[in-house]
Amino acid sequence: MHIEGKNNINFVAEKSKYMYRTHTCGELRIADSGKQVTLSGWVQRVRDKGKMIWIDLRDRYGITQLVAEDGTTDSATLDLIKKIGREYVLQVSGEVIERESKNANMSTGEVEIKILSINILSNSETPPFTIEEESDGGEELRMRYRFLDLRRPNLHRNLMLRHRMAQIVRNYLSDKEFIEVETPFLIKSTPEGARDFVVPSRMHEGKFYALPQSPQLFKQLLMVGGYDRYFQITKCFRDEDFRADRQPEFSQIDCEMAFVEQNDILETFEGLVKHVFKVVKGIDFTEPFQRMTYDEAMERYGNDRPDLRFGMRIVDFTQIVKGKDFKIFDEAEYIGAICAETPTEYTRKQLDALTDFVKRPQIGAKGLVYLKYGTDGSLKSSADKFYSTEELNRWVEALGATPGSLILVLSGDKSQTLSALSELRLEMGTQLNMRDKNKYAPLWVVDFPLFEKDSTTGRLHAMHHPFTSPKKSDLHLLETDPVKVKADAYDIVLNGSEIGGGSVRIFDRSIQSKMFDLLGFSKEEAEAQFGFLLNAFKYGAPPHAGIAFGFDRWVTIFSGSDSIRDVMAFPKNNAGKDIMLDAPAELHDDQLKELSLSVSYQKK
Ligand code: AMO
Repeated sequence: MHIEGKNNINFVAEKSKYMYRTHTCGELRIADSGKQVTLSGWVQRVRDKGKMIWIDLRDRYGITQLVAEDGTTDSATLDLIKKIGREYVLQVSGEVIERESKNANMSTGEVEIKILSINILSNSETPPFTIEEESDGGEELRMRYRFLDLRRPNLHRNLMLRHRMAQIVRNYLSDKEFIEVETPFLIKSTPEGARDFVVPSRMHEGKFYALPQSPQLFKQLLMVGGYDRYFQITKCFRDEDFRADRQPEFSQIDCEMAFVEQNDILETFEGLVKHVFKVVKGIDFTEPFQRMTYDEAMERYGNDRPDLRFGMRIVDFTQIVKGKDFKIFDEAEYIGAICAETPTEYTRKQLDALTDFVKRPQIGAKGLVYLKYGTDGSLKSSADKFYSTEELNRWVEALGATPGSLILVLSGDKSQTLSALSELRLEMGTQLNMRDKNKYAPLWVVDFPLFEKDSTTGRLHAMHHPFTSPKKSDLHLLETDPVKVKADAYDIVLNGSEIGGGSVRIFDRSIQSKMFDLLGFSKEEAEAQFGFLLNAFKYGAPPHAGIAFGFDRWVTIFSGSDSIRDVMAFPKNNAGKDIMLDAPAELHDDQLKELSLSVSYQKK
C-alpha cells in the first residue's frame, strides 16, 4: 500500500525499500531540520483541522508530530491520511521542519515531519481504551488486552528499568566472581511456606513434579558442589493467598556463598543494593544500613518490615494507663500508642473514620482512644472521664508529643494490637504524606526467631525455612525451649516492603535432622523428602549462607508504581488468573487420558 508523493520519488523509494525507518520517534531535534527521514510507529492521535492534519506517531522512544497540508501534500497521500485511525502502524517519510507552536514538554517538541509519503503497514480496530500514560481502561480490561497496555509509556519505562536493574545486578555480581547457574523447574517440593504448583507426569503415571517455590535446595547443593559464589535471576512459583505485593510466579535474584558468616552476606549484598541505588537513582548511601532486631521491629513498628521513611514509633502504654478503672484498658494484655503531628486538628469526622479503619475485620481492633494535644496546650481525650489532666500529661511525656499532635491508643491482645498499631501508623503516614515515593529508607531486620508456633495446633513452623541455622549461642535451647531460639536469618526492607530475605544454613547433618524432627517430620518423611540433602551433607558440606531478593518488588519501588503488576510484562490478576490467555483452564479429555488423570471436584 505504498503511496508516493510527487516530489519525493527517489528518496522514498530508496529508504523505504531497504529500511522501515531512519530514526526513532524520540530522536529528532531542531538540529535535524531539513533532513529527509523515515519513521515507523503507531498512531497516537490524528487532529484533522480541515486544511491541516497532524498525526502523533509513537514508538517506544517517544512521539513525533507529523503534518500534512491541503495544497502542499499530494492528494493521494491526503486521501490515505483521512483513512488513518488510532493505533494504525505507519511508515512515514518526509522532511524535518521547525514547528510553529513548539511543545516544551516533548523531547521532539520543536520539530515536526512534513509528510511526503505514507505507507500503512497495519490497520487497527479502535482500541478498547486510550493508550496513554493515564489510560481510561480499568485494570481488568487492560489485562485482557495486555499487548495494548504494554504500549503505554509507563509500562515501557518500567520494563526498561527492570531490564536495566537486571543488567546492573548481573554485572555487579559477575565482577565479584558470582556465576549464574540455572536450576530446574520440574522438581520435588521445596518448603518455603506456601503451597506448591504441581505438574503431572505423563511417563510416570500418578506422579507429579512440583514447581520450585525457590531454588533453595539447589543453591545449597551447588555449595556442596564447590561453586562458592552463585546467583541466578529466576522464576519462583508459590500458590499462596493474594496480597498486593505478591504474584504466584515472580522473580528472585537468588544468591548463595560458601565459607561465609552472616556479616559477610549482609556486607556483600548491602554493596549490591547500594550500587544499584547509585547507578539507577544517583543516590549514594555512604553510611551502613541500619540493622534492627526482629524484636525491636515488632515492639516499635508492629511488624517485621518497618517503613522508616517516617517516625511515629509505637510506645508501650501498658504500665502508664492501667489501674484507672477504664475497663477496656484494665482488661487488655497490652496497650500501645503512636503520636502523629497533624498540620491541623483532626475533626470528629476524621477521628470516626480512623476508628472505622481500625475496626475493619482485617485489622481487628475493638476501638480507638485518642488524645488531642492542641496548639494552645489543651488536652482533649475520648477517655478523659477516666484520666485527669495530670495523667494525660504523662501520655504526652511518654510519647514526647509536641502541641498540635494527635495521640492514638489501641489495646487488646499483644500481638494483634501491635499489628493493628502498625496498620494505623502506616495509614497516618499516608494521610500525612510521609510516605514519599522519592525517599528511600533501607534497613536490615536481623535475629528472627527460628520457629513460629501455630496457636491452634501448637505445631512449630520454620519462620524462614527448615534449612536456616539457629544461632550458635541458642543451640542448647533447641531441646528445652525451641520457641526462644533465634536464627541467623535476616531480611532487607525498603520503604515498608520486604525486598529480600535469607539466612545462614545448617550444614551439619545432625542439626538438620533435629530441625526436621522439631518441625514434626518423622525420620522416614524427612528421608523421603530431603534424603538427598542429608546425603549431600555426608560428603563434605562447606559452611554457607545466602539471600534472595524479590526482584519484582524492588523494581516496583524503584519505578514508583503502586502495583507489582506494573513491572511485569504478563502478570496474573488478583485472583491468580491470566485473563488474556484465560489461564488456568480445563484440560481436554485426551490430555487427561494421556496423563492418566480424571478430574472430580470436591466441594471446599
Ligand atoms: P523468601 O521466601 O523470603 O526467601 O523470598 C525472598 C524474597 O522473594 C520475594 N517474594 C515474593 N515476591 C513476589 N511475589 C511473591 N509471592 C513473593 N514471595 C516472596 C520477597 C522475599 O523477600 N529461599 C529463600 C531465600 C534464602 O533463604 O536465600 C526465599 O525464597 O521479596
